[in-house]
Amino acid sequence: MPDMRVLVLTGAGVSAESGIPTFRGKDGYWRNLDPTKLATPEAFARDPQLVWDWYRERRQRIRNARPNAAHEAIAKVAQHAREFLLVTQNVDDLHARAELAKEKMVQIHGDIFVTRCSRCDFSVLERDEERQEIPRCANCAALMRPGVVWFVVGTTATFGYIIDWALRANRNGGELIEVNPEETPLSRFATRRVREPAAIALPGIVNDLTNRGAL
Ligand code: OAD
Repeated sequence: MPDMRVLVLTGAGVSAESGIPTFRGKDGYWRNLDPTKLATPEAFARDPQLVWDWYRERRQRIRNARPNAAHEAIAKVAQHAREFLLVTQNVDDLHARAELAKEKMVQIHGDIFVTRCSRCDFSVLERDEERQEIPRCANCAALMRPGVVWFVVGTTATFGYIIDWALRANRNGGELIEVNPEETPLSRFATRRVREPAAIALPGIVNDLTNRGAL
């Protein structure tokens, strides 16, 4: 791997074994509500308190969680590969807490600990403490919202830009390894499909690469 260029794409599944529910799994429901309907501009306009309650609970769950073996395996690849980038859809901080260097990752859907104004550019980081009320902007007094990307009505589970990155990465004879217990729209493009939970499969995959001298 001293010569290897690695792009890792992750989603909610990588944090599942740390106890963070995925969006579309059964355990993702909260107070019987579908997260794909809660994480929307429409839900926030209708009931900002409800949306904040849900995010605050998720923040607390993330604070109490620990990175798992999958986050750790990915951080290990990052240390050894010649070039490395993680593109994560996750808004939790578990990759960072597994000691993956900040400059080696991009959180394309935002950071759950950021609270930002729904009108102006003002934002604050709420890494530690949680308030109860709906925050107001110190700058313009508008409602503040979590600093994450929300669902737009009609999106599908897999975003086009994610598929595009994965395909580009393996276009020039590269390997595309998919780790997911279930079939996804990306599966048919993968050169290797691993139908196991991430925390079980990834340490082995990274060890194989290391033993092959690829890493
Ligand atoms: P989803 O909840 O849509 O999908 C989770 C995926 O992880 C599924 O394909 C599962 O099969 C897989 N999975 C579950 N447990 C796993 C495990 N232990 N190991 C490996 N894979 C496992 O979550 P995402 O794909 O992350 O964005 O969803 C992408 C985006 O949907 C999120 O970032 C969010 C939402 O739109 C926004 O909020 C804009």
